[in-house]
Parts: sequence; C-alpha cells; structure tokens
Amino acid sequence: MSGSAIKITNLAKTYGKHDAVKQLNFEVQKGELFGFLGPNGAGKTTTIKMLTGLLEPSSGSAEINGINIWQHPIDAKKKIAYVPDQPNLYPKLTGWDYLEFVASVFQLPKDRFQAKAEELLSIFNLSNQASDLIESYSHGMKQKIAICGALVHEPAVLFLDEPTVGLDPKSARSLKNLLRKLCDEGMTAFISTHILEIAEQMCDRVGIILDGNIIALGTMEELKSAEGKADQSLEDIFLELTGGEDEQALINEITDDGDK
Ligand SMILES: Nc1ncnc2c1ncn2[C@@H]1O[C@H](COP(=O)(O)OP(=O)(O)OP(=O)(O)O)[C@@H](O)[C@H]1O
Ligand SMILES: [Mg+2]
Repeated sequence: MSGSAIKITNLAKTYGKHDAVKQLNFEVQKGELFGFLGPNGAGKTTTIKMLTGLLEPSSGSAEINGINIWQHPIDAKKKIAYVPDQPNLYPKLTGWDYLEFVASVFQLPKDRFQAKAEELLSIFNLSNQASDLIESYSHGMKQKIAICGALVHEPAVLFLDEPTVGLDPKSARSLKNLLRKLCDEGMTAFISTHILEIAEQMCDRVGIILDGNIIALGTMEELKSAEGKADQSLEDIFLELTGGEDEQALINEITDDGDK
C-alpha cells in the first residue's frame, strides 16, 4: 500500500491570458487523505478537473497509480471517482437506479453492488429514499447520493470538490469517518474544502494553493512548525498565508472605530 497514487508534474492551466494553475509539482501517496485548500478562485477546481481528465492541461502531466490521465484516459478513469461541487445527476432515476447505473458502467459484480449500495445508503441515511426519484431529493440528499455513486465502485482514488457543502452535521461526520476508514484500507482521497476544521481533523496532509501556486504542503505539524506556530490552528495559518488576516484586521479596525 505504498507508492504514489497521484503524481503531478509541472501541471498548468491557462484560460486565455490568465494563468489559473501554475506549474504544480507534488505527489499524493496511496492511502493518504489529502486536503486541497485555497481561497475562492485559487485554482482548486481547475486542478481537480485536470487530474480527473475533464479539462486538458495547458502543459505538464498527471498520473493516477502510474497511469497518465491524458495518454491513457480510460485506464486511468477506471481507477478514479469524482464528485464535483455541483453534481450532475439524472433526475428521472431513483437513487437505487442511479447507483446501479454507475456500478454497471464500472462492471461491478451484482452481489458486490447490492451489499455495497445498501451499506452506503444506510451510512448516509438514504435507505428509505432509495426508490424515490432523484428529482425529489433535497440539495444535501443529491450531494449524498452523488457521494454514494462515487464510492459504490470502490475507486482507488477519490476526488471530492467541496463535499460537505449542503451536508447536515451528522452526514458530514459520517462522510469524515467513512473517508478515514476507506483511506486506512488503502483508498486515496483528494478533497478540496473551505472548512478548515474538517481538514485539520481528518487530513493526513494538506496543500494550500494561492493564485495557482502551491504555497504550503505537508502534515499539520509540518505546516505549524514551518510557520513557527505550534499553538495555532490551521485556520490561523491559512489566513496568514493567504492574506485573509489583513482583511480580518481591517474588519476589526472598522468595528473598533464604530464602537468609539
Ligand atoms: N472556464 C473558465 N474560463 C475562464 N476562467 C476560468 C474558468 N474556470 C475558472 N477560471 C478562472 O480560473 C481561476 C481558478 O478557478 P477555480 O474554479 O479553479 O478556483 P477554485 O479554487 O476552485 O475556487 P472556489 O473556491 O471558488 O471554488 C479563477 O480565476 C477563475 O476565474
Ligand atoms: Mg472550486
């Protein structure tokens, strides 16, 4: 269970004249739960779309379990699952039919599918709605069925873009616990999130991207010691590195003035 699950080499994306992602170079190891953090517009979704073969890089390459995603897209895509920030589901399918459809695409044996689908639906409290049409689901329920669909074929590498948006606290905790368990069993997870508390609690390592560059990469302890801030939270470090602290200072100054 060792070795690189995701290998990113000089990966870059330019939209017109705008360099959205600039020459990224890093690896995520098998079994790692990796948090990809950064302010709005930093390049997280662009990077994830390049890693999942949905967006062609302007330069550089990405490998999934040693397979180049752009040279061998079908082989690489068999290994991965991706839940975008706005999942595109089939409204006229029931939750169960959707999971069955995903499993058939990935040629999962029927008996494995049945057990896996029931387990996932139960973890996310969707068992009673499995035979309802997806169009009748709430936003959070759609998010959860998309996550179930991603996990039903037991991917080697899971990409989640903002997975906790729309999830209630119980579901967010179920997701956190499940991801930890699956990564301990060997799956690799690459997750973008703005919820730094979640990243701090569950990720083995985090990478912070700002204006298309990785500005910090490592375990929580490594980030804290690099910044000389052993007692600070990831949120403190994130805001300091990404300049959000200046804005907070400004807000404090304005509210202080208002109090006088
Ligand atoms: N299709 C596109 N065409 C042109 N520019 C784009 C496109 N998609 C993204 N961008 C730009 O690329 C940069 C990175 O966007 P991206 O969506 O990757 O950010 P993000 O880190 O995912 O942000 P958020 O936290 O808001 O989801 C932004 O400046 C954005 O405006
Ligand atoms: Mg995004």
